[in-house]
Amino acid sequence: MAEAISRAVTALANGCLVAFPTETVYGLGADAATGRAVARVYEAKGRPSFNPLIAHVAHIDAARQQGTFNAVAETLAARFWPGPLTLVVPRAPTATLSDLATAGLDSVALRVPDHRVAHALLTAFGGPVVAPSANRSGYVSAATAQHVADDLGDAVSLILDAGATQIGIESTIVDCTGTRPRLLRAGAVTRSQLSEAIGELSDIDAKADGAIVAPGMLASHYAPGAPVRLEATHIEADEAVLTFAGAAPEGIEQARSIFDLSTAGDLVEAAANLFTALRELDTTDAIRIAVVPIPHTGLGEAINDRLRRAAAPRHNPG
Ligand code: TXA
Ligand code: MG
Repeated sequence: MAEAISRAVTALANGCLVAFPTETVYGLGADAATGRAVARVYEAKGRPSFNPLIAHVAHIDAARQQGTFNAVAETLAARFWPGPLTLVVPRAPTATLSDLATAGLDSVALRVPDHRVAHALLTAFGGPVVAPSANRSGYVSAATAQHVADDLGDAVSLILDAGATQIGIESTIVDCTGTRPRLLRAGAVTRSQLSEAIGELSDIDAKADGAIVAPGMLASHYAPGAPVRLEATHIEADEAVLTFAGAAPEGIEQARSIFDLSTAGDLVEAAANLFTALRELDTTDAIRIAVVPIPHTGLGEAINDRLRRAAAPRHNPG
């Protein structure tokens, strides 16, 4: 296995995808700090939109570099890590995660898995690794290396095969960003185990059957303060411009600022830059962000989905 781990580390460092076992399910791993590597995860999974991902680290000190732990988060980490619990905490000033890993959020989802292969990989790699379950979106989570291969095939450089995973369902997710912890996703750590450690949890949007709906959707992704205008084929005065592949629509010379998501027209690079670009253009006191047409193929679908939401009429988040 040592040889396989070192090949996996090299693959991650080169921005490639590595599937690895955890105690819950197999994860589709990428270097969390590199936007282009993270973009490949969404591409491989065929995700319809950019959902924030869980960053996996080898131990709690590495987690504290990425996120700020309050007393509740510390208690939960001490009790359940390594193990099938994911903690959502505020992003730390020292965080190295790319904007795409967190889908532009100011919080991060962190987990220290309890599996010798995952631990060896994370220790040898040294940085956080994003890893959603290694299946295509909408399919069941992968509990064996064969599932991963069947589902993702060529998209993965390497699969670290350690047989069937022990638990087979994903980690429990607890949001520790507010004053009271909230259960975001039911999973391997049960509610009663959690309340033994920290008392009652509030939960949000639990359905009648106890399932929790799409946790990432509850948090609003980064939304620019400036209004967003899509499919712009000409630029108006005082607009900021989000462009692609060097497109220069009529009137671009009057732009407040211009950000090209990928001068080479590469949609993986464009995805990696998307949230950073929105933040940057939003700091320019432009009256609006005009977005040139972006192809709908491959990752373009997710990019356009995200932009449509950024452009949708705002309602008061309350
Ligand atoms: O067991 C597991 O957790 C597996 C193994 C591989 O570790 N991983 C996994 O990751 O299930 P993924 O990416 O499929 O699930 C991530 C979940 C999503 O539902 C996402 O919405 C939520 O975590 N999430 C991530 N960051 C979040 C954040 N900052 N706030 C709220 N929810 C977040
Ligand atoms: Mg999943």
